[in-house]
Amino acid sequence: MSGTDTTRFPTSAEELQSMVEEFFSVQCRYQAAIREIRTKLEILDDEFQMRHKRNPIHHMQSRMKSVPSMMEKLARRNANKSISSAVEHLTDIAGIRVICSYLEDVYRVADLLTQQDDIHLVRVRDYIKQPKENGYRSLHLVVEVPVFLSEGRLLVPVEIQLRTIAMDFWASLEHSLRYKAQGEVPDDISRELIQTASDIALLDRRMQDIHDKVDALNQIE
Ligand code: GTP
Ligand code: MG
Repeated sequence: MSGTDTTRFPTSAEELQSMVEEFFSVQCRYQAAIREIRTKLEILDDEFQMRHKRNPIHHMQSRMKSVPSMMEKLARRNANKSISSAVEHLTDIAGIRVICSYLEDVYRVADLLTQQDDIHLVRVRDYIKQPKENGYRSLHLVVEVPVFLSEGRLLVPVEIQLRTIAMDFWASLEHSLRYKAQGEVPDDISRELIQTASDIALLDRRMQDIHDKVDALNQIE
């Protein structure tokens, strides 16, 4: 099928209207799923703050994938380019990035969320234990969360990327550098980026150690 453009263009006002309605209904579902996950994470963060006097979650960002980037990803996978095909094939239409203070917070937050009995864990990609070749580190989860609408209960997939502040610093700069270089980063720069990512991983480890020592001090008092 490669080379065939499968984009469906509306041929009448009625068809356009129904495509727009389909998009809004899909958007509504995915935005509801993002809100459900965000609320769960905020509650976990609040409870942790109450118990331990600090927040494991530094901040969160969420987004719904834009229609052009849904279509671009479907094209890469040789799938039909339509909203219903996006719903069928893509698990990252709804996305939340959770930036944590410390390394261990990443796993703590991920465990506390996925243990909840209404959350179904679909996929785990641990790019912290096994970083990508370019040095990228993050814990990626795909979960399904129930959303209750007038038509009933729907399970909606959400991609969650959990990482430390330091990993986020690297990932956001690497992303913009790659964009600037139009995807073609020269080898020596790639090597520098890999080295920087491993320096950052070391810093994360050291910050975790310092945190653990301070925690131990507080327990002695
Ligand atoms: P995509 O087609 O990019 O969505 O990949 P995928 O479906 O195989 O998922 P994967 O878990 O590999 O990565 C998905 C998302 O993680 C991307 O959309 C980025 O937000 C982030 N990501 C993955 N690799 C990198 C990377 O090398 N650098 C940066 N900055 N972000 C990355
Ligand atoms: Mg993606």
